[in-house]
Amino acid sequence: MKKTALLSLLMVCAMCVSAQTVNIAVHPSQGTQKISKHIYGQFAEHLGTCIYGGLWVGEDSDIPNTRGYRTDVLEALKRLSIPNLRWPGGCFADEYHWMDGIGPRENRPKMCNNNWGGLIEDNSFGTHEFLDLCEILGCEPYVSMNVGSGTVEEMAKWVEYITSDGDTPMAKLRRQNGRDKAWKVRFIGVGNESWGCGGNMRPEYYADLYRRYATYCRNYDGNRLFKIACGAGEYDLNWTETLMKRVGTRMDGISLHYYTVTGWRGKKGDAVNFDNEDFYWTMGKCLDIENAIQQHIAIMDKYDAKKRVGLMVDEWGTWWEPEPGTQLFQQNTLRDAFVAALTFNVFHKYTDRIRMANIAQIVNVLQSMILTRDDKMVLTPTYYVFEMYKPHQDATYLPLDIDTPTREVRDNRVVPMVSASASRDAEGAIHISLANIDVDKAQKVRITLDEVKASAVTGTILTSKKITDLNTFDKPGKIKPENFKGAKLTKDGAIEVVLPAHAIVMLEIK
Ligand code: AHR
Repeated sequence: MKKTALLSLLMVCAMCVSAQTVNIAVHPSQGTQKISKHIYGQFAEHLGTCIYGGLWVGEDSDIPNTRGYRTDVLEALKRLSIPNLRWPGGCFADEYHWMDGIGPRENRPKMCNNNWGGLIEDNSFGTHEFLDLCEILGCEPYVSMNVGSGTVEEMAKWVEYITSDGDTPMAKLRRQNGRDKAWKVRFIGVGNESWGCGGNMRPEYYADLYRRYATYCRNYDGNRLFKIACGAGEYDLNWTETLMKRVGTRMDGISLHYYTVTGWRGKKGDAVNFDNEDFYWTMGKCLDIENAIQQHIAIMDKYDAKKRVGLMVDEWGTWWEPEPGTQLFQQNTLRDAFVAALTFNVFHKYTDRIRMANIAQIVNVLQSMILTRDDKMVLTPTYYVFEMYKPHQDATYLPLDIDTPTREVRDNRVVPMVSASASRDAEGAIHISLANIDVDKAQKVRITLDEVKASAVTGTILTSKKITDLNTFDKPGKIKPENFKGAKLTKDGAIEVVLPAHAIVMLEIK
């Protein structure tokens, strides 16, 4: 077949509508749980150019900055209403000694960033720079503390330095360093991946260490800590079981790390060069997070029926081959946007247990919101999913039933072609996020809302010609949300949607 004929055939296919109507029944009166806004958390690690170059360029840089923070990045991040920001790692956290990162910058000792390329870390971005950044962004800090190579005393003093307002030694030191009032910090992580880069520990040993370290993290002057224990990677159920048994409600949260990583046959996939089967495989691996979540929650329920301990998915996202010569810098296509959309749709379902999640990572590392090169900045397709999904933050989760075609993909997984999630905000507006995974076919979707009769529907869509499309430094505006005109009300108050192939849509219904 000639190339032009093949192209026209492909284009016709892209507009094909699936023969089957997807039915979605939303149940507004069954909504009882709030989707914690903290599910939309971010993560910044001293890794590659996440901190240096991405967030922080220093006051003397030629790149426009606000007290050392890149102004373009700050402005873009403010638009996401970030609820919390995790720092300083990741693996970096268990080698980080916070006292090296305070006081006059020129006096701060340097260190080797052993986890990430052995680069020299000059500690110019430390506790004050991080907590000031959180104040500028209006988000809560989540400080991940060092158990692997740090002492109990070091951790206890860090908490005192940040949160004590009294006449205590660490509060005095903080004041000498220019900050009079204590910061309010709720979220602290007691170790990161203690089963791996955080100390290669067994769960029994870590459980005891958690109990000991957490004991000396005190509540100063009205600050109330929310202590998060290091949890499992993916399907390590034994880790969760041991922690629940031995630590139980001494922890406020336990983490879970789940990456959409390892492409077909054990290789990490390429971030931009992939075919439809790779795309569908990615959707399958991403959606399998639900399976992992269910299994961890089942164990937690056994020991904590009242759901006092939160499951905090404090690292998630795609992990592709890094660009040559970089530390985990990867591009971000429409496929990554799908991973974000589908993952949120899953998190919402378990909002009674999942209290926080942090995508890895905010800038220039793995599935980023933003990529920077020198003074240039690109907002990724993933950024736009976070922007479109903002109405779900702290809204009431509305259960729904969905009847959708499915597809069998590699690794014997079955993926639904359409994924959906619904919530109601404080003003009563209903938001429904929809994703049509089908690369080629549009879907006809009919949405009913039980007793609620909709009177207006508007929407936003994120899509592009190809699933491999992306925003680059040369063409930063290729993919961005547009107004969506494909939804209309029916006479009986339902909504009919024609959801284009490979598209993510957010509807607002009043
Ligand atoms: O996000 C990159 C790394 O992945 C983190 O440092 C570590 O916690 C995880 O293994």
